[in-house]
Parts: sequence; structure tokens; C-alpha cells
Amino acid sequence: MRPVLVAGNWKMHTTVKSAVELAASVVRGLEADPRLRVAVCPPFPYLLPVAEVLRGSPVGLGAQNLYPKPEGAFTGEVSPAMLRDCGCQYVIVGHSERRHVLGESDAFINEKVLAGLAAGLTVIFCIGETLAERDAGLTHAVLDRQLTNGLAGVADDAWSRLVIAYEPVWAIGTGRNATPDQAQDAQAFVRRRVAQLASAAVADNLIIQYGGSVKPDNAASLLSQPDVDGALVGGASLKADQFLAIVRAAV
Ligand code: 13P
Repeated sequence: MRPVLVAGNWKMHTTVKSAVELAASVVRGLEADPRLRVAVCPPFPYLLPVAEVLRGSPVGLGAQNLYPKPEGAFTGEVSPAMLRDCGCQYVIVGHSERRHVLGESDAFINEKVLAGLAAGLTVIFCIGETLAERDAGLTHAVLDRQLTNGLAGVADDAWSRLVIAYEPVWAIGTGRNATPDQAQDAQAFVRRRVAQLASAAVADNLIIQYGGSVKPDNAASLLSQPDVDGALVGGASLKADQFLAIVRAAV
């Protein structure tokens, strides 16, 4: 049985005070389950105070981005080693907002994936098609391109620290989630493709999350699909009761 990973992507939200309170509420409300992994991904400035709150709890800490160099003259950027130093176990790479708002390419995202894995982080690698691509029947082709290019060169022993988040762009922040069938179809395709890129065993053990307007009332139906192994939650992760309800629906 694969583990289930529910992660909150807080995006560019919260303050020091609200981030600490939100993390504390998640820790307090979490019910342990052997299959369950939970993480929160605050903005960079709040990683350290949130790490303090999470210390000793089962809730993991993740960052929302990294720069794929160990250190150097890269004004405004944050290295994978710095994330480790702040207590991160996870990092989100290739989020659609970074692809589409900030113009990150498959090649640059690939550098980030490799840098995160090399630093010992678990990389939550995001992929997903736009509405135009889905309407044109290109969903699998887009996922194939993102997987092939984004995961080029992943070392055999690093796949176990890779998580894939299928986040259709049209479902992010729109209130319009993929149907369970749409999520299952895309995620089964992702698993088949990873079996080709890595191995059947890697694909079998791979955690594939769904992301895009996951809410307490749709989480159970999405997460009951055989290839949906968790959720990457945006808006609903900013309210502890909603996030915890999604976590409960996952197990
Ligand atoms: P929403 O849950 O707000 O749609 O965001 C999803 C997402 O982008 C998570 O990374």
C-alpha cells in the first residue's frame, strides 16, 4: 500500500503570526495514521518560525521553490542547502504558477528537480495541462513532455524521494476541480509513463498527488481513485479546519 501525502501549499499568503497559528492548529488537529504523511509549505520568510512549531510533530515542512545552485551570487534566490538548514524535508518544484506566471521552462525545472533531490529533499514535482491543451486533446502529450523533460537524469536511488503532483492549470484556484475520472485517467497515465522512465517498481511506489480546487467536500471522491495518493492543497490549506478535513478524507 502506498502512503498518502497531503500537503498544504500556502503560496504567497499568511503573516508570521497567522503562519505560526495555522501550523499549530494543523499539528493539534492531526490524527495519526500509519499510511498518512502531512506537510505544510509556507512562504520562505516563515519557514523558520513554522519549523519551530512543527518540531517533534509528524507534520513535515516544505518550501515552495528553490534555486538550483548550492550558493553564490544569485540575488534574491534560496538554495536547496538553505532549505535543509531551515528544516525542510520537502520542496515544491514546477508549480504551474511558476511555469505560467514566472515563465519557468521544463529545462530550468529539471535543474531544480535534480538540485532538490541531490540536497536530500523530497521534491514535489508539479505538472498539468492548460484548459486549451485539454480541449485540444493534448493532456497526455503535455504530461509526457513535462515528465520526460522535467525528470531527465533523475538518479536511480533518488526516485524514492520524488512525488508527482498532477495539477491541471484550469483547476487551480478556480473552484473547478477535475472530476475523479479525469484525475484518475491523467494520474494512471503518469504512473505508466514513470514505469517507462524509471521502472515498474518505482512507478508502483510513487506518490502521485492531485491538486486543483481540492476542498473538504470533493476530497474523498478524488482521493478514492486508485492512482490518487494524496492532495496538494492551495486555498483550503489556509484554514486549519478545512485542511484537516481533507486530511481525514484521505485516509
Ligand atoms: P487551489 O487548491 O487553491 O486550487 O490550489 C491548488 C494548488 O495550486 C496547489 O499547489
